[in-house]
This record gives sequence, structure tokens and C-alpha cells, in this order.
Amino acid sequence: MEMRSWLQSPSSLTHGNIIKREIFSKKDSDDPHKPGAILNYIDSFSRCYLESRIASIPTSFDDRQLIFYIVDGAGIFEGGDLKQAVREGDGIIVPPETTHILTNEADTPLEFLILEETLADAEGAPRDDVLIRNYRERPLGQGHWTHLVHPIFGSDDGLVKLHSVLMVTIDAMQTPDTHGHADNMDEVWYMLEGNGIHVVSQNVYRQRPGDAASVAPSNPGHTLINDTDQPLKTFYFARYTR
Ligand SMILES: [Fe+2]
Repeated sequence: MEMRSWLQSPSSLTHGNIIKREIFSKKDSDDPHKPGAILNYIDSFSRCYLESRIASIPTSFDDRQLIFYIVDGAGIFEGGDLKQAVREGDGIIVPPETTHILTNEADTPLEFLILEETLADAEGAPRDDVLIRNYRERPLGQGHWTHLVHPIFGSDDGLVKLHSVLMVTIDAMQTPDTHGHADNMDEVWYMLEGNGIHVVSQNVYRQRPGDAASVAPSNPGHTLINDTDQPLKTFYFARYTR
């Protein structure tokens, strides 16, 4: 399975009141047929939301670090010594053993993504404090011909398995180069806005908002073509071969 929508995933609860749809998880030899269990290193990737005027219950995990990304809406994040308003475009790294609460004070749902990286087999040390950063704080760069990239988090920020968390835009009627990946890494593209054609190996997908495409492996390559007259906007995360 290379492309999967959160709509295909069963709902579950985390942090008491967060409604979670896990899209991809790490390969599990004890459950080899689990839908979406295709990641090699990263433990879990989910689309989540909080209902209006609802807070999560105080939660901490000893064995994992979490990365939140706010897709839509606004809320209040409390964790460690920090209490801060969060909005669309904010990423949040929540270290292990950090009690945290996310509150939605608005009349509309608060939509966000959660990445999980467990400390088992981690290559780096986790953070010891919460980090919140909006992708707009980082300069725009360009790569693979037409990827317009705002970095959100990287290895220097205390990620333990992830190497890169990005906001990637591809402008209207543009194609990136085609490049391949082996299966000894993870690279996932989640469509936030707009749509495009994602060619992964010999498969052709129309990738729409809420669809996540895993492109490791892709042989001879993959490319996300924007064949529309609007920009497309994606949330990207990867663990590279090093
Ligand atoms: Fe790629």
C-alpha cells in the first residue's frame, strides 16, 4: 500500500478526547497484514481533531516523543513550562515525560496531525523542552526543480528518528524531477490543500486532501505533478538513509 486516506482508518481516542485516525504505522512482524503498517522507522502518523470547546486530558508518554502539526483551527497548547496559542502552520515537538494539554476554545473543530517516534532504536537524544514553530518562520527554499520548501523541524531540533519535517508547496502546472528511493528509509507526503498526480513506481494516484503517499520504495522513482491551476500544499516527513 502506497497511498492511504485517513478516511480508510478506524477512529480511536488518544489523550482522552482527541479523535485519532492512524494512517500509517511502523511495520509489525506480529501483525504483518495490519492496514497502513508500511513505515520502516517512524512509529505512527495520524490525522486527529478535537471537537469545539473541548480540551485533551493531561497526558505524558515515557517511551515516545510526539510531533504535532496544526492543520486547521486555533487552540492553546500547554506543556512543561509553556502555555501558548497555536494556529494553522504550527509544529510542536513534545518530549517524553512531558505532561501536555491541547485545548480548542473555538466553535469549530481543531484539526491536526500527530507523528510518533518511540525511543526504542532511536539514534538521537530527545528534546527536554517543548518546541513550537510555525513553518512561516523559516525561509523558503527550492529543490527537485519545483518543490517550494519551508523547513519546520530537522535533526538539530532534537528529533530522534525523523530527519526532516517540511511544508512543501508545488505551484500550478509544475512538475518536480523524478527520483527514486530504496526501502531503507521513510518518506511520506500528506496532501493539505489542492491536488495533484503522484506517480510512485508504476502506480498513478490522484492525491487529494487527506491522502498520504509513502514513496519508499519507489523504483525507478516518484514525482508529484501539479496538473491543476492552483498551488498544492503538502505536509512532508522523512527519515533518510545515512
Ligand atoms: Fe522523494
